[in-house]
Amino acid sequence: MEIISQKKLTPAEISEWIQSEPVQNEWSFAECKPSQTGKWSHDYHRYPAKFIPQLVEKLLDEYVLNRDAHINDPFMGSGTTIATAISRGFFASGTDINHIAYLISKVKSRPIQPSLLKSKIQKLLARLDAADSGGLFQDTHALSPLIPERHYERIAYWFPEPNIVMLGKILAAIQEEPNPVIKDFFTVAFSHILKPCSIWAQGSTKPIRDLKKIPAEPLFAFRRHLKKMEQGNAEFYAVVPPAVRENPEAFLCLTLGDARHQPVESNSVDMVITSSPYVTSYEYADLHQLSTIWLNFAESLSEYRKAFIGTSYKCYERPSLKSQIARSIRERMAAVDMKIAKEIEAFFVDMQAVIEESYRILKVGGRSAFVIGNTKLRGVDIQNAEAFAECMQLAGFRLERVIVREIPSKILPQKRDEKTGRFASNEQADTEAYPIEYIIIGIKEESA
Ligand SMILES: C[S@@+](CC[C@H](N)C(=O)[O-])C[C@H]1O[C@@H](n2cnc3c(N)ncnc32)[C@H](O)[C@@H]1O
Repeated sequence: MEIISQKKLTPAEISEWIQSEPVQNEWSFAECKPSQTGKWSHDYHRYPAKFIPQLVEKLLDEYVLNRDAHINDPFMGSGTTIATAISRGFFASGTDINHIAYLISKVKSRPIQPSLLKSKIQKLLARLDAADSGGLFQDTHALSPLIPERHYERIAYWFPEPNIVMLGKILAAIQEEPNPVIKDFFTVAFSHILKPCSIWAQGSTKPIRDLKKIPAEPLFAFRRHLKKMEQGNAEFYAVVPPAVRENPEAFLCLTLGDARHQPVESNSVDMVITSSPYVTSYEYADLHQLSTIWLNFAESLSEYRKAFIGTSYKCYERPSLKSQIARSIRERMAAVDMKIAKEIEAFFVDMQAVIEESYRILKVGGRSAFVIGNTKLRGVDIQNAEAFAECMQLAGFRLERVIVREIPSKILPQKRDEKTGRFASNEQADTEAYPIEYIIIGIKEESA
């Protein structure tokens, strides 16, 4: 439902508005099969809490009418917004602090001429088969495994020895590829197979070892995943407009960086579509540690973590929380757990800055859509949606619409561990988390 009034809402009115909105079934996409949500390049790499493309498509259908639109996502993750925008011939910009997210987004939004990709894949696999065949070809085709020394201990913690050697060979063969776009494509396939090839518990998003797991054989897993990605690329290539196929670079501006400071011109974006990290839920730096260690993305994991918004490794000395709703959440949590209260405070301070940055880059008349869920943590209600809406209003947006949607898929775990607040598997957890989420839409209007 649209907000009729043009006036600013008080925090109490914001809460009432959001809580009184009914669930809108047409935004749940319950009928979509995995083949639809994972179409084109959308299944190149698993990613916790990723969007389904249908949600981005519907927002674009409803709000973006100009053909030369500029779409932005300050928290690209696996690049769902970016790839969807590119499929329609829009200009897409975005950022993420996570190296692997940046890599996936680049590859997912970059259609490759299918026959070129086919021949590159054949060549790479032939190279690996030769290197793997031992005796006969050993001298001419030797491939010394590329295993990042500085992280060897962590690698040995997660992978059995034979898999370390084979993964090292695959990585070495990928490095021989001279075309950077193809090399990135192969690297995403490599990154995706790390989890099945390790003893990381298969059903777990969190880093838990399963000593009974039989890890997948790397070359088999790599070959199979490349095949799937090749097919996804061909489908994606077929739908993107010819101008994008000819010069994809001209339609993309993706960066590895902080959502609070995007290298995007002021007043240049038509729509921001994003989902933020959640406070004290996923530690994205930890969840992607297999890729981080193999691809040498960070010197020290502990330093790397601190750059992430929503991490439990951050707190501010002199925070300034502008949102009253966020302050009230912080105060209620402080009575229960001061450490989590400080994490919540840091999260909302950071999110206020991201929302202000989104306002800066939007054109007048442009909109931001922030997707977020509410939860309960240590018995305290964390009304992220209400706090985000207030932060948006404080940044200058007029609150225009809230869409309440059910999350039918199991992409987001539905439960939290009551003690730690972290997402847990359904059997281990005791608190409901995010069965529904909110899309808060604000518009940037001419300032009075
Ligand atoms: C919920 S995920 C986004 C998922 C995305 N919508 C998708 O479809 O894959 C949130 C993202 O925020 C990123 N992030 C966390 N802190 C950040 C920061 N300071 N600047 C930019 N991105 C950050 C995380 O790395 C993560 O990829």
